Amino acid sequence: VSTEGNSATESSTVELQRLRECFGAYGTGVAVLTTHTSDGEPCGLTANSFTSLSLDPPLILWSISRKAQSYAAFMSSERFAVNVLACDQIDFAQRFARKSSDKFTGVPYRRGRHGAPLLENCTAWLECSTFARHDGGDHTIIIGRVDTFDRFDRPGLLFVRGRFCQALSD
Ligand SMILES: Cc1cc2nc3c(=O)[nH]c(=O)nc-3n(C[C@H](O)[C@H](O)[C@H](O)COP(=O)(O)O)c2cc1C
Repeated sequence: VSTEGNSATESSTVELQRLRECFGAYGTGVAVLTTHTSDGEPCGLTANSFTSLSLDPPLILWSISRKAQSYAAFMSSERFAVNVLACDQIDFAQRFARKSSDKFTGVPYRRGRHGAPLLENCTAWLECSTFARHDGGDHTIIIGRVDTFDRFDRPGLLFVRGRFCQALSD
């Protein structure tokens, strides 16, 4: 039995921090997931758990923390949008990663076909219908079926080891 590495079964604060850092070594894009509350208010959060899942049928997935303020909205809404951020949208990534009731103030957006906010100047967006939700420990995994999508000619924002960055070349 190897004694190298860290045990994922130990749940001390130090081990959890090391596990978080290990997860964070995997670079991703950055998206703002949006929907609206039952009152019709826009709501959204920054997420790097977004990933493509299936081309046929067209499916994507992401996961939301059970502690997120927007958790209830995403659990009750059957529609949401994925706004894939461009590299000059770090301010949006930070704004939507904070708990706040006025995240959309001053943010240019329009309502998509299903009513979910589509942020201006993203590198891509996808409007989705909730296809399935699965238990994911302290998160819930949300699978969406892509209804409409578009992509724009802007470099994407990337995230790795807790830092925002951009691709070395286009
Ligand atoms: C780069 C980055 C990626 C994140 N990815 C996720 C994610 O995939 N799922 C999630 O639930 N929270 C994620 N978060 C944290 C949420 O954005 C943060 O907890 C936010 O405050 C949640 O908003 P809410 O509480 O208003 O819903 C991420 C934060 C950052 C900065």
